[in-house]
Amino acid sequence: MLNQELKKKLVNLAFEARDDSYAPYSRFKVGAAIISADGRTFTGANIENASYGATICAERTVAVKAASSGARQFIAIAITGFSDDVPPEERDYAFPCGICRQVLREFLPESGDIAVFVALSPEDVFETTLNALLPHSFGPEYL
Ligand code: THU
Repeated sequence: MLNQELKKKLVNLAFEARDDSYAPYSRFKVGAAIISADGRTFTGANIENASYGATICAERTVAVKAASSGARQFIAIAITGFSDDVPPEERDYAFPCGICRQVLREFLPESGDIAVFVALSPEDVFETTLNALLPHSFGPEYL
C-alpha cells in the first residue's frame, strides 16, 4: 500500500488539478491524480461540453493522459469533486462514476488492485480500492 507521504502528495495534486476543471454547466469541479507503477504522476480534471454528453470526467482525463504517456499499471488514484457553490459542511465524497471505474480497471497493476483516495479536503480522505468499487469486473484477461 502507498505510504502516507505519497498519498498526501497525490491528494494535493488532485486538488491542484481541480483548479483546471472546465465545468461551466454543472459547476461541479473534479480533479484527479494517478501514480503509475513506474513512479510517474499524472493529473486531470473534468472537461464539460456544450453538447453535455460529450463531457469527460476527471478520472478518465487522467487515465487517458497516463495511458497515452505509456503508463500501463496504475497504483493509486486520488479524486476530489465538489461545487464551490456548496458550503464545505454540505459536501460529500465524490466517488468515480461507473464508466470511469471500468476505464481504470483496464490498468490494474501487478498487485491486482488500485488504491482509490476520495478527498473532501486534503485532511478528510476516504480510502478504498477499485476492486471494492467494481467487484466481479471484466478485464483484458477475459479476451
Ligand atoms: N464527474 C467527474 O468528473 N467524475 C465522476 O466520476 C463523476 C462526474 C463530472 C462530470 C461533470 O462534469 C460533473 O462532474 C457533473 O456530473
